[in-house]
Amino acid sequence: MAGTSQVAPDLARVEEIVAARGGRLGASIHLLAATGSTNDDAKTGAREGAAHGSVWIAETQSKGRGRQGRTWVSPPGENLLFSVLLRLSCSPARVPPISLVCGLAVREAVAKALGDGDRVLVKWPNDVVVRDRTGAGYRKVAGILVESALAGAKVEHVIVGIGVNVHTRDFPAELEAIATSLAREGAGAPDRAELLADILGALDRDVEQVAHRGLALVHARLSAHDALFGRPVESDDGSVAGTACGIDPEGRLMVRRADGVIARVASGEMRLRIG
Ligand code: BTN
Repeated sequence: MAGTSQVAPDLARVEEIVAARGGRLGASIHLLAATGSTNDDAKTGAREGAAHGSVWIAETQSKGRGRQGRTWVSPPGENLLFSVLLRLSCSPARVPPISLVCGLAVREAVAKALGDGDRVLVKWPNDVVVRDRTGAGYRKVAGILVESALAGAKVEHVIVGIGVNVHTRDFPAELEAIATSLAREGAGAPDRAELLADILGALDRDVEQVAHRGLALVHARLSAHDALFGRPVESDDGSVAGTACGIDPEGRLMVRRADGVIARVASGEMRLRIG
């Protein structure tokens, strides 16, 4: 561990708590008070030969990144910000399924922390959202940024960067209506080290199977927790609109258009269509 003087007590115990689970992920943990982006730290680690399952975790990031070029902002010490290096040799076609199974792992851990499995869902491709009490909408509790590197025609490693809103109660005005946290959803006293250990445990259980055999093992779980299923959706660029009707074995979102044709969306973001 390095630079841990400004790490809160729950995170300070992270190595001990993850080691007690005995899993293959998290055998090496780099705990940082502050960094640019844990995904960049993992990228450097990958270049320098870090082992499969190495984890970089930080109390705060100055250059936290989200998908689609967005930034990921999180007040120091409040949330869980980490990246895990997965050395998986598989076809690049398996990256979208890997990304989906990461969402499922986070979903499972968040549902456990909230003590409520039904309200916590994966919003394709891999956001984790909590359904509001009316059941009509949801708010994002966690985001995942998956970045992969190739060696020839094969994936050499995948970096999975995960941000879970744990303690934040006050979000910036532009996020207020769309973001939430474990604390806001009523989790008693969420412990970030336990949450990390739960996520790593779920990933360790499923990710290699998915990398080598595809989504079959987790498809039923994914379908049971698909936030978009049956909802009117449109892509951010407006090119696809219709009713979401599931996720196919390649990890693409299926959208039934008004003319009945099913479009399969491989990448990008989808939002609920209002009106
Ligand atoms: C998204 O929803 O757009 C993905 C957000 C991913 C944020 C996490 S925080 C830890 C890791 N480091 C980063 O720079 N990004 C990811």
